[in-house]
Amino acid sequence: MQATAIAHPNVALIKYWGKQDVATNLPAVGSLSLTLGGLATRTTVSFAADLERDELVINGALDAGALSRVTRCLDMLRLRAGVEHRARVTSANDFPTGAGLASSASGYAALVTAAAAALQADISADELDLIARIGSGSAPRSLHAGIVLLEKTADVTGMKCRSVAAPDDWPLSVIVAVTTRQPKDVSSTGGMESSRKTSPCYQAWVDTHPADLTAALDRVERRDFESLAEISEHSCLKMHAVAMSSVPALVYWSGATVACMQRIRELRKAGVPVFFTIDAGPQLKAVCLPEAASQVHEALAELPGVVDVLDSNLGYGAQTES
Ligand code: PMV
Repeated sequence: MQATAIAHPNVALIKYWGKQDVATNLPAVGSLSLTLGGLATRTTVSFAADLERDELVINGALDAGALSRVTRCLDMLRLRAGVEHRARVTSANDFPTGAGLASSASGYAALVTAAAAALQADISADELDLIARIGSGSAPRSLHAGIVLLEKTADVTGMKCRSVAAPDDWPLSVIVAVTTRQPKDVSSTGGMESSRKTSPCYQAWVDTHPADLTAALDRVERRDFESLAEISEHSCLKMHAVAMSSVPALVYWSGATVACMQRIRELRKAGVPVFFTIDAGPQLKAVCLPEAASQVHEALAELPGVVDVLDSNLGYGAQTES
């Protein structure tokens, strides 16, 4: 009863920030994301009769912090499969963990994919999305390929997640400027809850979000890079405005993050097809057309404070390894 899965992190163009229900990680707003083929989490799950409890090893070290959430996901899968065995979960990322590069999204997507395969359970893609969501609100997006829509629905599940463009339908490159390898101080869940309770901008964020999502989807459908750039940067900056106006203030950027933003804006002004987005951490992700990728990589790499630059294209949803 063992299987291995590979999943990629994702980055949202139209951001998710805020939960409608914390216990099940039901997002307060939808989101639109890119699955990043160049970065990967590889996870092996083995169920065994002689294990007394679930075990989690991330990047070679036992991880007690995430274990209870992992066990919640595994319990849902065990219930579906009618199996009681505990599991050993071994996971490794080929990129910095817990530093705003969506390692939790790829981690939970790989976990549920590997565990469902190990249990040989017949679980639909929609159900797997809901189970991955228990781990992290953005994890269902990593189960899908290319450009991914997570929409809010009125049914009991509260959401539906699907790919709206395969990686080859509209090839895009994502260049990640890593400005620190340190894990962040405030988790996104903690930050979102603080914003919901204290930011005077939170309700405006929730109210204006559906129009941003509809506009972005239309721009993806028309393959209109320039206007997708505008709405994506708007969504990113609006999310950070909500975070910054929380009490206490949540400032996820470093000086290097701001320098990267300015460089990307200068490049776009000069006609280079590129825009930026930033999650709950100081790394900047530049989205560009593939022909601009090496120019964007070089421009970010030469900025002081940028410790590494990672290149990615769009990738596939989580898959088991044969
Ligand atoms: O799924 P979480 O809890 O890691 O939240 C992710 C939230 C952001 O990355 C900041 C935005 C997003 O939509 O990915």
